[in-house]
Amino acid sequence: MSGLKIAVSGKGGVGKTTLTVLLAREARRKGQKVLVVDADPDANVAATMGLEKEPPPLSQLSELIGARTGREGLVKLNPRVEDIPERFSAMKDGIRLVTLGAVRSGGGGCACPESSFLRQLLLHLLLERDELVLVDMEAGVEHLGRGTAQGVNALLLVVDPDLRSLHTAGRIVRLAEDLNLSQVWAVANKVGSAADARRIEGAVPRGLRMLGTVGAWDELRLAGVHGLGAVPPELEREVGALLSALQRELGAARAGQAGSQEQQGEGAR
Ligand SMILES: Nc1ncnc2c1ncn2[C@@H]1O[C@H](COP(=O)(O)OP(=O)(O)O)[C@@H](O)[C@H]1O
Ligand SMILES: [Mg+2]
Repeated sequence: MSGLKIAVSGKGGVGKTTLTVLLAREARRKGQKVLVVDADPDANVAATMGLEKEPPPLSQLSELIGARTGREGLVKLNPRVEDIPERFSAMKDGIRLVTLGAVRSGGGGCACPESSFLRQLLLHLLLERDELVLVDMEAGVEHLGRGTAQGVNALLLVVDPDLRSLHTAGRIVRLAEDLNLSQVWAVANKVGSAADARRIEGAVPRGLRMLGTVGAWDELRLAGVHGLGAVPPELEREVGALLSALQRELGAARAGQAGSQEQQGEGAR
């Protein structure tokens, strides 16, 4: 299945970036076209991917943003952005990366040019691109408005044995409900023992289903610093299982939706 749009969120340090890059690699290995969006203001996907030349944080391209959103008066809400992914991205091992960067704003939802530009770019990436898009977010869904959320097929909330990560996940689940995101899944990361797994399972908040588990791997501990090197086959299998489970669940959800639409159609006739 290509074209899925997956957002990854969760508490800081749980492994959002690491899992995003692992999933991107796995999908690429299976022959899919993959684009990763680093939407965390504290961006470190490029380092984790091991990119020598990082793509520019888009929010800092003031000249370009000014030119696209209008220099004076009202900020254009739908600036042209289709050329941005190709022009301002970096590639490594067939995976494309765009980095959004931080937006200086006094509170969320400002009408500043940077946020208007980035919002339009996300809309474009989520609604119009045909490849698998993985969005590495901060601990929340602030980047998603109603429009962008429509394009997200699934939200993965990464949690780990530190149960505070489950509280954060619970908070994000409620935000996701407000955005009508129905496919919200927990991924347990850094699970080092059966006791870890049980503790997480016992604390999963309502509205959150478990998609799968990734172990605590020494090979991943310094991924953010040195970049992700080759990973052991067993870890590759864990990530493969995660991606398959996701595709299976989303495939079932799509089939279910099509079925109920058909039924509605029949009822109307
Ligand atoms: N499964 C894992 N096993 C061991 N260390 C991990 C695992 N996943 C992530 N890490 C490490 O945990 C730290 C935080 O991971 P990161 O992906 O940067 O988290 P986030 O993006 O959620 O802030 C990093 O040092 C990373 O290398
Ligand atoms: Mg991160």
